[in-house]
Amino acid sequence: MKITRNPIDNGREDPSQATIECISYHEGKDVTLRGWVYNLRSSGKIHFLQLRDGTGIIQCVGSVQDIGQEKFDELKAATLETSLVLQGTVRKDTRSKIGFEIGLKDFQIVAKPSEEYPIGKKEHGVAFLMDHRHLWLRSSRQVAILRIRAEIIRAVRDYFDGRGFSLMDSPILTPNACEGTSTLFETPYFDEKAYLTQSGQLYGEASALALGKVYVFGPTFRAEKSKTRRHLAEFWMVEPEVAFMDLEGDMDLAEDFVEYIVQRTIKNRKTELEYIERDLKPLERVRKPFPRIMYEEAIEILNKNNKPAAFGDDFGGDEETVISQNFDRPVMIHRYPLAIKAFYMKQDEKDPRLARCVDMIAPEGYGEIIGGGQREDDMEKLKARIAEHKLPEEAFRWYMDLRRFGSVPHAGFGLGIERTVAWITGVPHVRETIPFPRMMEKIWP
Ligand code: 4AD
Ligand code: MG
Repeated sequence: MKITRNPIDNGREDPSQATIECISYHEGKDVTLRGWVYNLRSSGKIHFLQLRDGTGIIQCVGSVQDIGQEKFDELKAATLETSLVLQGTVRKDTRSKIGFEIGLKDFQIVAKPSEEYPIGKKEHGVAFLMDHRHLWLRSSRQVAILRIRAEIIRAVRDYFDGRGFSLMDSPILTPNACEGTSTLFETPYFDEKAYLTQSGQLYGEASALALGKVYVFGPTFRAEKSKTRRHLAEFWMVEPEVAFMDLEGDMDLAEDFVEYIVQRTIKNRKTELEYIERDLKPLERVRKPFPRIMYEEAIEILNKNNKPAAFGDDFGGDEETVISQNFDRPVMIHRYPLAIKAFYMKQDEKDPRLARCVDMIAPEGYGEIIGGGQREDDMEKLKARIAEHKLPEEAFRWYMDLRRFGSVPHAGFGLGIERTVAWITGVPHVRETIPFPRMMEKIWP
């Protein structure tokens, strides 16, 4: 029996290449599965093996009659995370979560663990699990979360690719700040200093003026000294940017996009969402239009809910949660005070105290998932903002060229992937929403 698999096969047609996810395509047939012992239970005469292969878990049942005494004893000794290849018949089974089980016929052990697997069935503390993240990833809950993450990312790409946006990769090593100088990771760059990008937006703007509708999608970095359940030092952000779009267009795009991501994930990852026991009702309600409120209305909501706030205050996680509790779907808060926002935000024509910006707050206490808005396209105003923020004008010489040559109204936003995954999966902390989280005081493994 061949241990290696044909990686080009889709798991559906050839039974020797079956995967658990595609097991229904092989009902009644003999298949080969490749995976690891997730659990093993024996009733003396029958073994019940839970096999995991990364796409799912399936129960494989084998007696002495089925596999012979020698194999029966060999399987009995198999410990957690033993790797194996097995052959068996796919049987319908109504008691099974996935509707099928395997009648075991034969198996070949590939490797036995050299030590006892450190993650057992008992409860482990988060610190222990985080230190064993490379193994924790194998647990069925983590697999489900990461499969949902992969689906969300695919939905993001499909959304923009299907609507005339071009993907533009922005650099990770950058000469200057985008989101304020207090959260920059600095790194030597030959004889100069460079910074890990906080956002691809500035390059997205240049790209939008070149290609019209673009999106930047990559890792971003913030040396944020906050140990909250919403902050990572390295996270993924998708940032659409559109030439000739204003703040209203930006909000239309943001709500259409988020509705699409949520509804498609429910449709394509129902099994995983059910496995992790996500309540789907609040997600099913994520339909546009989303409520849009001005920053000053948000201040009123806070005051009404015994959370004193005044014009000029920025919102943290607690404030966002209180505001979001007043709505049954994501809420967009627009026109924050210019003074508390990044240098590139466009000043509102009607009220010069305000910026033409928007944050989208997820329901159920998941906080801000989107930040964005219209960009200052007036050269003199932008210059003044760069000076106010004490940013080096020289570093933005290229960025000013975008206003010098064919400046147009333009807007965009950034959606944080991990916060979105946390919300959609209902996982309380972003550390479980990325394979290897990078947080303050955490860079292992
Ligand atoms: O609101 P932010 O800082 O906006 C920007 O970076 C803009 N330049 C984006 C743009 O307009 N193109 O970040 C956008 C989103 C947040 O709403 C949040 O979802 C996520 O990025 N985010 C973080 N996620 C995890 N950990 C952190 N430390 C994050 N900081 C921001
Ligand atoms: Mg923000």
